Amino acid sequence: MPTIRPLFTEAQIAARVTELGLQIRADHGDAAITFIGVLKGSFMFLSDLVRAVPGDATVEFLGVASYHGGTHSSGVVQITQDLRSSIEDRHCVIVEDIVDTGLTIDYLMRMLEVRGPRSLKVASLLDKPDNREVDVRVDYAGFSIPNEFVVGYGLDLGELYRNLPFIGVYEP
Ligand code: IMP
Ligand code: MG
Repeated sequence: MPTIRPLFTEAQIAARVTELGLQIRADHGDAAITFIGVLKGSFMFLSDLVRAVPGDATVEFLGVASYHGGTHSSGVVQITQDLRSSIEDRHCVIVEDIVDTGLTIDYLMRMLEVRGPRSLKVASLLDKPDNREVDVRVDYAGFSIPNEFVVGYGLDLGELYRNLPFIGVYEP
């Protein structure tokens, strides 16, 4: 029977997300910010994060598939749904659940950079720096974690466990 060893509680996540929201607002003055949620993993973090950011904000989604159901990144990033609006001249924050090898964020940064945003930053709830294959800048990282596979709060294994309100390590 697989077990899920708790890593961050609902309360810990909520407190950290509130800090990140205020920090993002402070860094952008009173400008409108476009939050670009990377589906599906970021949906829960995104919904809490935007509520923690005072002032003008818009929300967009990017559909990305990189994993194909296993626990190791395939390194191939496939866009399954593009943005619905132009980001030209807008302050943008890409919102990810976790940065692992960095391949997904690196690909998305390049793809969005050429569309002429006024600024483009990265917010990720989790960061696994030990597993990096490309050097990427995570401007707003919630928690740094060791190289273990985690689920919950939006993160899945084969589409399961996204609905857990906490984050835990998956132990087969
Ligand atoms: P990267 O391209 O290797 O940085 O991985 C990015 C994507 O892999 C994330 O957005 C997640 O969807 C997925 N991922 C990486 N590590 C984990 C994990 O520990 N649990 C669940 N998904 C993960
Ligand atoms: Mg993801």
